[in-house]
Amino acid sequence: MEMKNKIVIAGGTGFVGRHLTHRFLREGFEVAVLARHTAALPEGAQMVVWNGRAPGPWTRVLEGADLLVNLSGASVNCRHTASNKKKLTESRLQAVNALGAALIAAERPPKTWINASGAGIYNPESPGAHGEESTDYGDDFIAALARSWEAALFECPVHGIRRVALRMGVVLGKGGGAWPVLLRVATLGAGGRSGSGKQFVSWIHEEDVFGAILFLYRHSVMEGPVNLVSPSPETNRTFMAAIRKQAGMPLGIPQPAWLVRIGTTLMGTDPSLLLRNSRVVPERLLAAGFRFSHASLADALAGLNGTAAVNEHGGH
Ligand SMILES: NC(=O)c1ccc[n+]([C@@H]2O[C@H](COP(=O)([O-])OP(=O)(O)OC[C@H]3O[C@@H](n4cnc5c(N)ncnc54)[C@H](OP(=O)(O)O)[C@@H]3O)[C@@H](O)[C@H]2O)c1
Repeated sequence: MEMKNKIVIAGGTGFVGRHLTHRFLREGFEVAVLARHTAALPEGAQMVVWNGRAPGPWTRVLEGADLLVNLSGASVNCRHTASNKKKLTESRLQAVNALGAALIAAERPPKTWINASGAGIYNPESPGAHGEESTDYGDDFIAALARSWEAALFECPVHGIRRVALRMGVVLGKGGGAWPVLLRVATLGAGGRSGSGKQFVSWIHEEDVFGAILFLYRHSVMEGPVNLVSPSPETNRTFMAAIRKQAGMPLGIPQPAWLVRIGTTLMGTDPSLLLRNSRVVPERLLAAGFRFSHASLADALAGLNGTAAVNEHGGH
């Protein structure tokens, strides 16, 4: 019998993890999901309960696995109060440290560990675009969160395990994240630019998140930080116009920064999610020959909205 490749996805019950579970199963992988509570998974996926904090019986799932992908962490879609910042940071560091300890103790650990990080690690004030060689990091909370997450990953004393940090931009997909929310906002006529509209949005289609992880798994020379964003970051003004087009709303009320601050506070989330500049390019993936299935925003959104004929690999 042919042995399947095995992927373990920690935090696999969330928006990105559900898409990865579904796609890796279809790709012929055996998929195990680590989650703090049992949840419905696609048929064929294995659910393993952990506490996200410390090794336990769950660590057995790593034996003989080929790839570990860790997405665990409390959602940044909240107000960034002092107590929430603590939760956002601790949930990420504890999960990485628990996984690291489990890998060190494993007899047959996976050879590759791909961990989520954020494109928000880079300095939002710098004028140009950031490739991975940029060490111009931000000094705000979002950047500090990504830096401490990556430090925990790369400083973990696991030997012989290739580690990659995915500096992910805003993931656009049908099952959650920013797209359904922004589409609804635009449909209500409120999809104008946020603030000056000049801040960049670095985004990626969920299918390219899957494709890039598979590529990085197979491309065994790549390690370290990798920008997981499309090659075409857009300004918020252009980004919102593209969303409005999909919503069939030519006009949208612009939201000055003060209104974004009030609105996001009322919605229980943080204005930085809309106002923060993030201009990031996927230099390493492009240099390694990865081909994006959705390199342009118009194309990605049309696919999500069902207004374009997009085949399985995004070809047109
Ligand atoms: N979506 C984006 O646009 C985007 C962009 C950049 C970076 N990222 C990062 O990529 C990761 C995945 O994103 P996502 O959108 O799929 O996030 P998500 O939907 O919030 O899922 C994250 C998963 O983390 C687990 N989790 C939540 N709180 C936790 C805690 N306190 N301790 C341990 N695990 C916890 C949850 O699983 P259980 O409750 O089942 O344990 C949840 O399913 C996140 O860490 C996010 O910060 C996402």
